[in-house]
Amino acid sequence: MGERPRVVSVEELEVGDLIEVRWLDTSEARTSLSLPDREFDTPVRSIGVFGGLRGSRAKHNIVIKEEFAVAEAPEYHYNAIPVDMVEAIVLARRKFWKKHDVRKAMSLLDGLGESSQVDVSRTPRMRKLAEAFGLGVDREQAFPVYKRFELELALNDVVYITGPSGSGKSVLLRALRRKLGPLAADMAEVPIQHGQPIVETLGRDVSEAIELLTKAGLGDAFLWLRTYEELSDGQKYRYRLAKLMETGAQVWICDEFCSTLDRDTAKLVAFSVQKVAKKLGRGLIVATSHAAAGGPEAERPGGEGPGR
Ligand SMILES: Nc1ncnc2c1ncn2[C@@H]1O[C@H](COP(=O)(O)OP(=O)(O)OP(=O)(O)O)[C@@H](O)[C@H]1O
Ligand SMILES: [Mg+2]
Repeated sequence: MGERPRVVSVEELEVGDLIEVRWLDTSEARTSLSLPDREFDTPVRSIGVFGGLRGSRAKHNIVIKEEFAVAEAPEYHYNAIPVDMVEAIVLARRKFWKKHDVRKAMSLLDGLGESSQVDVSRTPRMRKLAEAFGLGVDREQAFPVYKRFELELALNDVVYITGPSGSGKSVLLRALRRKLGPLAADMAEVPIQHGQPIVETLGRDVSEAIELLTKAGLGDAFLWLRTYEELSDGQKYRYRLAKLMETGAQVWICDEFCSTLDRDTAKLVAFSVQKVAKKLGRGLIVATSHAAAGGPEAERPGGEGPGR
């Protein structure tokens, strides 16, 4: 408030500023339709929030114009204006959008980028650490997990994501879950009915229940009579896999894929689940840092790996 719009250079801009960019658009015409007074310049004004400079072959000024909510996921409308075409930039208001919101928008424009946000001024100890490690005075720090990351996926692909702890597997899975929306189901979201024998809690009848449980690696009749609470951690994992395979979702997402299972069980379950996914034409996206559950090391006896 109280700020007067003024012409500024691009170097003076901070992401989140509300700006008006006066620039020249390209004109397209046929020779027969001669332009009046040989005027080739087509002045344009773009108003929006400064998102930063982008582009590898030519620098572009990114002006974010609108935010839409598409199936709960935000989408943005923006202009990418080549810096060489800019005539003037008028700064209308500083900090019109919070940096956090701009980063969220820009991470979508940059591709499937994700960064984790930490408010370094939250506690006295955090402030001390931020100072000691030179994390800057900006209240909120962004630590990129990945940037400009592109992934081409078919909805029936079997995908195995691996990497060391903290490398971004879960962050990537959550981003994919958001992108896919209702097309995907995450194993962590399957509903659990407590206090009932598990055989009662899935499938349309007993034979379908047994088929699902067996495919998830729970082939023991004694286990079918137990409740969810009475299962071991590894058995609970396999039960949730069975519930996931029962969902109508096109893509199944599993974090910590088979990581609670011993190596041999993990191989068998991983092989079985990807086989069911392929047979039903469903996509399967899994992540784990353990080789036993998928990937090139986890070959089944026949030689063909259970995932990729
Ligand atoms: N909600 C969050 N807020 C801030 N930082 C986060 C958040 N979630 C994850 N991170 C950070 O992002 C990075 C990637 O985390 P992620 O959970 O994706 O790792 P991971 O590969 O799944 O690891 P693991 O194998 O241990 O599960 C880590 O450095 C983590 O500290
Ligand atoms: Mg993880």
